[in-house]
Amino acid sequence: MRKTLVALLAVVAVFSFAALTRAQEVAQTPPMGWNSWNYFASKVDDKGVRAAADEIVANGMKDAGYIYVNIDDTWEGKRDENGVLHTNEKFPDMKALADYVHSKGLKLGIYSGPGDKTCAGYPASLGHEEQDAKMYAEWGIDYLKYDLCSFRQDVMAKQAPEDKAAQMKLMIAAYEKMGKALKGTGRPIVYSLCQYGWDAVWEWAPGLGGNLWRTTGDIQANWNSVYAILSQQEGLESYAGPGHWNDPDMLEVGNGRLNIRENRSHFSMWAMLAAPLLAGNDLPNMKPEVKEILTNKDVIAIDQDKLGKQAHRVYSEGEVDVWERDLAGGAKAIAVLNAGSDRYSTHPFHLSLAKLGLHGPQKGRDLWSGKDVTLSENMPIEIASHDILLVRIDAPRF
Ligand code: GAL
Repeated sequence: MRKTLVALLAVVAVFSFAALTRAQEVAQTPPMGWNSWNYFASKVDDKGVRAAADEIVANGMKDAGYIYVNIDDTWEGKRDENGVLHTNEKFPDMKALADYVHSKGLKLGIYSGPGDKTCAGYPASLGHEEQDAKMYAEWGIDYLKYDLCSFRQDVMAKQAPEDKAAQMKLMIAAYEKMGKALKGTGRPIVYSLCQYGWDAVWEWAPGLGGNLWRTTGDIQANWNSVYAILSQQEGLESYAGPGHWNDPDMLEVGNGRLNIRENRSHFSMWAMLAAPLLAGNDLPNMKPEVKEILTNKDVIAIDQDKLGKQAHRVYSEGEVDVWERDLAGGAKAIAVLNAGSDRYSTHPFHLSLAKLGLHGPQKGRDLWSGKDVTLSENMPIEIASHDILLVRIDAPRF
């Protein structure tokens, strides 16, 4: 009897532990939120972060799934004699800011790096990894972007000059160190690696606790940059999945020189890629058409699909690319992107369903017009320059 009771208790304990670990698993779908860098860069401050949080709640972004409010570089002050890193004058009280963001039902993210300095030249975490991680947890931080920056000069170039392979090992060890430090805090903190895709990061990042990793250099708010980054995601699809995602960088939707069609295509393709959706625009002054794009729930549902399968490019014809993504429940999303500028109605694009492995008419929904559509073999499709047709097919016919 006693033995049975002990066995029963052991089983209960194992199950509760498993449930607890599951509850702590972060980024089961690609993280969504906002990050200060793409628009505010070094102008970010406490007031701006609070305003972004207020706006995310007020404008429907929170309801659409945007939860993380992430402070990027330039919050850091000086380290004191005990090695404690203080915030600078732009952020008078990080704990109070975290409490404020949490009170809105949102989460707070922060930024550092494995080197001595961040990219903007502020103190980073070299030699203080555990101390910093502990402090983030005490503040109530939920997300860390860890950016390589000066680690290249401070450690890689110094300790292993001329030896690329040894440099990469040092880099991986540095990311592992912070991964362990974050885990050691016991707080669920999303771990975002930012080292521009070096040394096939997608192969080793998940193993050291990485939830997402940048696959390329920095995005810029123009079509060439967005399209170049998109093209570099091909072939990485097998590395994405619940808890670990390729990160083609934060959104530029609403920024710079991107027009409405380009914003729509950028957002659609990041959703197809199961990319983290971190808006990077000036939220309190966002145009209604930009808000409409960022809060399109059907497109967000593609990004957040539980299966977590990243899209792949099926074929291209000239400057038109056709991508597909498998979704939960046997559904599919198809994106037809006109990346060029010189196709007109005299020569529309003809979609090949056969190349997608589909046969017969396919009933779906155009996620930008919100209308039902039926795709058929070889149908002519006219798509404006840099625009996209994004269709969800719930019951594809093979
Ligand atoms: C870059 C990074 C950007 C931004 C910036 C801050 O290395 O890729 O996303 O974080 O540093 O200095």
